[in-house]
Amino acid sequence: MYSDKVMDHFTNPRNVGEIPDADAVGQVGNPSCGDIMKIYLKIKEDKIVDIKFQTFGCGAAIATSSMVTEMAKNKTLDEALKITNKAVAEELDGLPPQKMHCSNLAADALHAAIENYRKKQKGE
Ligand code: FES
Repeated sequence: MYSDKVMDHFTNPRNVGEIPDADAVGQVGNPSCGDIMKIYLKIKEDKIVDIKFQTFGCGAAIATSSMVTEMAKNKTLDEALKITNKAVAEELDGLPPQKMHCSNLAADALHAAIENYRKKQKGE
């Protein structure tokens, strides 16, 4: 039911954990199941130089979280903002239809972290 890529990222997730001195943190909850994803960013000259995640959720949510961190690493903030939930699911060679909602966390948490960083930069 799951692609090899989903299974790989679920059983061997990349970039798991917390960045204690993160420049930005983004957190989103999935309204359909209550699962939560948190993304930590380290940013240098508008580029994501380190990224980690903590996901309290199902296997598909963990796989999409892992994949989004791989896709966003070393990207500029503008490039990372262009990563969509759909792109993450596609990069994993798809998710079963009943698990598509799980991919909603990944890019949303990344975007929330970037917005959080930009607000901080503006002193808001
Ligand atoms: Fe909640 Fe998958 S069941 S994110």
